[in-house]
Amino acid sequence: MSARLAILTGANGGVGRACAKKFADEGWSLVLVDIDASVVETAKQIAAAPGQVIVGIAADITQEAEVEKVVAAVKATGVAPRFLGLVAGVNQSASAVEDFDMAVWDRIMSINLRANVLMMRALIPSMKATGKASIATVSSFWGRAGHGYFSAYCASKAALISLTQSAAAELAPEIRVNSLAPGNIGTPMHYNALRDEATKRGISEKEMRDIEWAKIPMGKPADPAEMASALHFLATDDSSYMTGATLDVNGGCGFY
Ligand SMILES: NC(=O)c1ccc[n+]([C@@H]2O[C@H](COP(=O)([O-])OP(=O)(O)OC[C@H]3O[C@@H](n4cnc5c(N)ncnc54)[C@H](O)[C@@H]3O)[C@@H](O)[C@H]2O)c1
Repeated sequence: MSARLAILTGANGGVGRACAKKFADEGWSLVLVDIDASVVETAKQIAAAPGQVIVGIAADITQEAEVEKVVAAVKATGVAPRFLGLVAGVNQSASAVEDFDMAVWDRIMSINLRANVLMMRALIPSMKATGKASIATVSSFWGRAGHGYFSAYCASKAALISLTQSAAAELAPEIRVNSLAPGNIGTPMHYNALRDEATKRGISEKEMRDIEWAKIPMGKPADPAEMASALHFLATDDSSYMTGATLDVNGGCGFY
């Protein structure tokens, strides 16, 4: 049996799938969590080596009762949890603060922030029992500063960085807690945002893409696999002296 278990949320998304592949390739057992029920099939499609457990569980991690299903699935693997990767997150459509729909605000905060507290709260006891473990949140370069018309997303990710620091202070030295702050990543979240903005401006998707990508010193969004490598670094002893840190992996676009 693979002795290291990682729990990954948002595992059916662009970054989550890349992370699942990376961790599976590195020999981890996995509990893959997503609100999208096809995560169960996603887990089945990952080739497991003998003794490697890979399960998918459909759960809305904003709901305490659903988080308990994740805890049960973790226990059922019989493998000690060594890493909690909190990848799930949602973006918002552009909206001015003065017009903000508070139901949208609450939803963004619930998924990007509150759900991560629920997941930590539920899984920290078993990670403490493991003895040595790591947690990583996935924030954003947009959690480093506020950007116009994206107040809820930016505020949720800034708060997530702060939550990461608080949890790190409480849980050291047994459990390290860090955040990965990506820039643009070539996933549906990024391409949907480009499409929405292009429609709003009445320009083509390509024109919109050229405008946004010109702001990235590396000239293009990250491949999701590049996020998976960074998250795996935070999961392992390769980052053994890091806790409370936010790792910027943004192609150089974190400076504006
Ligand atoms: N894509 C980008 O450009 C970008 C940039 C910076 C940060 N990020 C962050 O990276 C993370 C992953 O982004 P992505 O591009 O893979 O997004 P994605 O939309 O492809 O994946 C997000 C996944 O989270 C799941 N999810 C949403 N709500 C959930 C809930 N309540 N319970 C369980 N699962 C839920 C979705 O079903 C989806 O599979 C997010 O936290 C995002 O904010 C993304």
